[in-house]
Amino acid sequence: MSQHDSEVLQQPLISQRKSEHIALCASGDVEFRSKGTLLDQVHLVHQAIPERHYDELDLSTPLLGKVLKAPIVISAMTGGTDEAQAINQDLARAAETLGLGFGLGSQRAMLVRPETTRTFLVREHAPTALILGNLGIVQAQRMSTSDIAALCQTVGVDALCVHLATGMELVQPGGDRDFRGGLETLRRLHGELGIPIVVKETGCGLSRQVGQMVKQIGITAVDVSGAGGTSWVGVETHRAQGIAKAVGDALWDWGIPTGASVGLLGDLGLQIIATGGLRTGLDVAAALALGARAGGLAAPVLKAWKAGGYDGAVEYLTGVIETVKAVTLLTGCRSPSELVRAPKVLGGALRAWLEGAR
Ligand SMILES: Cc1cc2nc3c(=O)[nH]c(=O)nc-3n(C[C@H](O)[C@H](O)[C@H](O)COP(=O)(O)O)c2cc1C
Repeated sequence: MSQHDSEVLQQPLISQRKSEHIALCASGDVEFRSKGTLLDQVHLVHQAIPERHYDELDLSTPLLGKVLKAPIVISAMTGGTDEAQAINQDLARAAETLGLGFGLGSQRAMLVRPETTRTFLVREHAPTALILGNLGIVQAQRMSTSDIAALCQTVGVDALCVHLATGMELVQPGGDRDFRGGLETLRRLHGELGIPIVVKETGCGLSRQVGQMVKQIGITAVDVSGAGGTSWVGVETHRAQGIAKAVGDALWDWGIPTGASVGLLGDLGLQIIATGGLRTGLDVAAALALGARAGGLAAPVLKAWKAGGYDGAVEYLTGVIETVKAVTLLTGCRSPSELVRAPKVLGGALRAWLEGAR
């Protein structure tokens, strides 16, 4: 069977899977069970005499060639179904209104079912926002650079997230098993695609060693998407049966906590987006203090959208932004980018990761 034939056979499966993903992630029963982000182990030191006006604080953050109004990205979630289209349009509009980045879910659906392309077309709702495309590394490996460029151009994305999801694939029914050639794929796309590549995990985190590999081939941006928030092994465990379910149950909490992953990559000179379990502006501030450029949020934005649509998402994200601003003032900083130099105390478990995983 040709690759095209097997992809055609998978078409209904992909849209069913996407719908199940949204339902499972919105229900909340897919968070890590006992492993946290370790961002709560970053204690920024309170400065009682900040000598600044709250309104003077500047949250603007350069990221991937654009300037965000606050260091926050709505992380990759969806595409391919009618509900996904509504989510993408509303969240892209929220990103435009608030000046945040917005990530599309995997664009593989555009390839397999071209009629779903409309569900990814968010540019008219977010004409100036930073929009990130998305493709899995195994899929990217099988595609020519020009086909990937066409996917990016159709939507008008500013950069492409290439996601790594090894843990999830091992548990997913019919998931990938051959992970050879990934680095070469990243090198090819970095050299040929013409827009920046963001190497992105999906809930298991990036090690320092992977950060170094990525940096060595010239890529300058990563999304660590670490452990402590949505467990994608957990999501697929819900959908798996038999032995795959047993493996998924055992590996539900697999991965590097988001705080540890950011701290381990913090001095490599990469633009780091810290996703994975960030729920409040305090989590975003902690990630910035460890060296991230911006914080990414996925499941909590989906839940806010499910509860209150566009307005619900904007209200939730505004609370996150205002909290980052408050912490910036309370630490005596002028901008969130100064948080990395602000005095802080790190808890023992986080320090153990930062020392042990180098
Ligand atoms: C419903 C849903 C769908 C997702 N789909 C994708 C995807 O297509 N591509 C991707 O790179 N990450 C995907 N993710 C992973 C998120 O971008 C993020 O890395 C992960 O959920 C951890 O962040 P969180 O704890 O804030 O949810 C998805 C997340 C959710 C909640």
